Amino acid sequence: MAKQTKKSTTPRKPHFESPTDFDGANWNTMEDPYTQFFYEQNLSQFWRPEDISLQGDLNVWNMLSDDIKLAYARNLLVLTFLDTYQGDIGMPVVSRSLDDKQHQRKAVLNFMAAMENAVHAKSYSNIFMTYMTTNDINELFAWGEQNKNLQHIMSLIVGTYEVLDRYNYLRQYEPGHDHFSEEDFKEAQWKAMTASVFLETWLFYSGFYYPLYFYGQGKLMQAGEIINLILRDESIHGLYVGRLAQEIFEGFDTPKQEELKGWMFNLLHTLYREQAELVETIYDPVELAHDVKIFVRYNANKALMNLGFEPVYPNEEVNPVVLNGLNTETKTMDYFSMKGNGYQKMRSEALKDQDFFFDSTKSGGDGRD
Ligand SMILES: [Fe+2]
Ligand SMILES: [Fe+2]
Repeated sequence: MAKQTKKSTTPRKPHFESPTDFDGANWNTMEDPYTQFFYEQNLSQFWRPEDISLQGDLNVWNMLSDDIKLAYARNLLVLTFLDTYQGDIGMPVVSRSLDDKQHQRKAVLNFMAAMENAVHAKSYSNIFMTYMTTNDINELFAWGEQNKNLQHIMSLIVGTYEVLDRYNYLRQYEPGHDHFSEEDFKEAQWKAMTASVFLETWLFYSGFYYPLYFYGQGKLMQAGEIINLILRDESIHGLYVGRLAQEIFEGFDTPKQEELKGWMFNLLHTLYREQAELVETIYDPVELAHDVKIFVRYNANKALMNLGFEPVYPNEEVNPVVLNGLNTETKTMDYFSMKGNGYQKMRSEALKDQDFFFDSTKSGGDGRD
């Protein structure tokens, strides 16, 4: 958190004072060598939750044991919580923290923000709505709200976003403040980006284990398609934010870098402990906790690499069924592939006046209890 004694080194002008305060995003000029590339990639990958019909999974789902169903649903619920806050605050706060004139970078982050909750979290809900009753869905969300490990994980990640959110506000609207320096601000920015990459490349990916485990065996394939689309998005999110984080990190002197590395490894180990317990809660009943934890460590190493650091966990053999899910040609582990072979883009048609007449007798839900 900010030290209270330092003077601000770069107090900003209040807005609205100078005629040059505002400018437009000029896409004719590259802001840096890579952001427009990420922009293109993000937009070419755009998809909607309703593009994938889930009905085809129901035969398999209905034959699964209750333990397996519960583990599958709880795992997707964890992903839901993470995606919700990554969309609600994570990506927006990182975008807000960028310099005013970095409009292209902000556009890319804002697009990513829109995908997290409106597309990814919504897709998990679509899976729940297809597989489960409303009562079971409500119980599932209540479980997440009560689970200590999940709540700790959320507070560790979202806590860094909230610190940066506060800095963003002070920097923008209280430019005469003397409570923190520019370096304090950069530190908060880097920490939020680091937490963001841990979430994108590590926590999300670890949650893809179980859907890929089924997908690799030819089961719950429609949900697996959704996971593959989400996985492809998260892969470029982690890469992009990791790249921004590395730029900031390079601006710190060596003692500060060492201090920040200490903070990062502390966060990593705390997150690992919380995840390990959460994995045991979810996967012990289906006897997969050991296997999932290997995948957790594998993804921790990937996140560190996205942030420009060496892996910390030793190489271990990841379940080949799950790795296959990541490596298939139609999928995204080459990071910049186009949509998978199984993907069909939604067809749209122009709206007509009669589209806005709704039959009130048909309202009242979808028939599930
Ligand atoms: Fe997401
Ligand atoms: Fe993401």
